[in-house]
Amino acid sequence: MINLTIDNKAVSVTEGSAILDAAKACGVKIPYLCNYSLVKPTGACRICLVQVEGNPKLMASCTTPVTEGMSVITDSPEIHKARRFVVELLLSDHDCRCITCEKDGVCKLQALAYQYGIDDNRFDGEKRTYKNEADNAFLEHDHGKCILCGRCVRVCEEVQAVGAVDFSRRGFPLKSQPLSINRWTAFFAAHAFMPVLPARLIPRLPALRGVPPI
Ligand code: SF4
Ligand code: FES
Repeated sequence: MINLTIDNKAVSVTEGSAILDAAKACGVKIPYLCNYSLVKPTGACRICLVQVEGNPKLMASCTTPVTEGMSVITDSPEIHKARRFVVELLLSDHDCRCITCEKDGVCKLQALAYQYGIDDNRFDGEKRTYKNEADNAFLEHDHGKCILCGRCVRVCEEVQAVGAVDFSRRGFPLKSQPLSINRWTAFFAAHAFMPVLPARLIPRLPALRGVPPI
């Protein structure tokens, strides 16, 4: 076991655990978006930043393994500022019409915006624009809601072992994309793990009527 302290709380976790896992084990809350316990962490969203004693830079707690005697601080003015900045950047290219979004009230990004007191967008500028993909009987895919966390890609690859989703394009127009129409079903299953709402279930077929939105 590895012994460390998080916000001055002593905790012991198995070797190879990440700081985020150790924090969960001792009841310390660190916000996260791209992390999901069943898939490998990638450190994509940078919201889980923490301060590790002796390290000048903030570290992503989901990808930083614990070490013996480590001392971690999860909240400070510097950490607050860095996380707030990350949320602001995510929102700067996000479709923020929350009132009409089915995930209004349970969206992790929206909750972080409230938590960090973001009610304005100082990075207002060009946004990625995509047409909604609604050519499938089951799903409508709205890329304006995607935060490129990669959870769908990793769940499809590592949990479902299907590899039905990947990122397409490069740079600013990057988006998550089902690789073929007949693989939408796997993508649909992956949506259960999404922190925001890039896709919604369309109750077009009689069998799906009454199924609640994800
Ligand atoms: S579609 Fe959802 S899970 Fe996939 S990258 Fe975008 S926000 Fe993340
Ligand atoms: S949860 Fe750690 S970088 Fe996204």
